[in-house]
Amino acid sequence: MTGPQIESKTDPRSGTVEVDHLFKYFGTEKAVNDVSLSVAQGEFVTLLGPSGCGKTTTLRCVAGLERLNAGEIRIGGEIVASIERDIYLTPEDRNIGMVFQSYAVWPHMTVFDNVAYGLRVRQAPAAEIKRKTDRVLELVGLDQLADRFATKLSGGQRQRVALARAIVYEPKVVLFDEPLSNLDAKLREQMRIEIVRLQREVGITSIFVTHDQSEALVMSDRIVVMDKGVIQQIGDPKTIYAHPANVFVAKFIGVANLMEGVLLGRSGALCDVEISLGEGLAPLRIQSLGGEGAVAGQTLHLCLRPEDILVNLQRPDGQSQGNTFEGKVIDTVYLGNFLECRVQVGRYEVCIQIDHYEQLVAGQSVFLSFRPEHGLCLTE
Ligand SMILES: Nc1ncnc2c1ncn2[C@@H]1O[C@H](COP(=O)(O)OP(=O)(O)OP(=O)(O)O)[C@@H](O)[C@H]1O
Ligand SMILES: [Mg+2]
Repeated sequence: MTGPQIESKTDPRSGTVEVDHLFKYFGTEKAVNDVSLSVAQGEFVTLLGPSGCGKTTTLRCVAGLERLNAGEIRIGGEIVASIERDIYLTPEDRNIGMVFQSYAVWPHMTVFDNVAYGLRVRQAPAAEIKRKTDRVLELVGLDQLADRFATKLSGGQRQRVALARAIVYEPKVVLFDEPLSNLDAKLREQMRIEIVRLQREVGITSIFVTHDQSEALVMSDRIVVMDKGVIQQIGDPKTIYAHPANVFVAKFIGVANLMEGVLLGRSGALCDVEISLGEGLAPLRIQSLGGEGAVAGQTLHLCLRPEDILVNLQRPDGQSQGNTFEGKVIDTVYLGNFLECRVQVGRYEVCIQIDHYEQLVAGQSVFLSFRPEHGLCLTE
């Protein structure tokens, strides 16, 4: 890597974050309900979930801005909050950087002074303040604007000031709470890449909060999917998308076609499931992955991603015959490189994606099929 470097930490545990059985209530509301999570030194972990699921509260507990109701938090192996041991370190004593949604830069200060502030309050010597601030400004691409007042910056530049300010005193960990949500779509995509580049270069452990699934998929080493204060799944982006742990995760990440069925039995890695298509319609037997731990007779939900469904004009023969649904095209939308098409299959509207040169028209009969290894049966 070229460009300025921040001195790397030698202790491999210096930037680890461990959250152990964290509980945080607001009155009777369980904002965080038994969350446990381990973040490795230098790792980029994203907390993802719908509004109110407890992302910010979890982050604020790590930062020291909220007291816990139960549990323990360790940073670099050091206990920074523990109910059992009655330990609580203030945010200042946790050596973490924070970047929030509203880029709170000080308008009456220059870019340099905004960034240098964190070092000044720590009473660093003047020469060190200059050296470290210059280096971080170069890192975020603001070295040319050091003397400009913060009011005369674009949104993206201000967000970069906030970023520089969070890392200038070389914290072990940086916490981000939806830092990009005030930026327009294009700048947002650019900043995603810049933050990840910077994070890799500097090697700071990052916990990033967003409710934007594509942001999480693009940026993260691992994603923590939360709902109602509870972790639903932890995994790398590919695992979260291709092997969601349950119906909630499948619906939250990408488009998921879900069809309810009953487990009949198993054959090796595959489960045999009877899908009910609605009143008066014959149920359909399918084979797919998933359904581990389920017992015969249990309700399962077949999850099919739009890109994994094949469309045929005639009933296909051969192996995939069992995994074939008959349907009628509802409508198609042209999306440039592909067509998105909704197909009525019994009581379900199934979303599929097909090549842009294929032609389907509303009302047309089609047969949808999928390979057993592209279907996944999930529990609620
Ligand atoms: N200071 C507070 N007092 C009372 N309730 C709170 C407080 N802060 C958060 N809550 C509640 O705790 C739950 C979790 O809130 P939190 O802010 O952690 O959600 P979030 O996942 O960050 O949501 P969003 O995506 O909207 O920012 C919500 O139901 C919220 O109303
Ligand atoms: Mg929040």
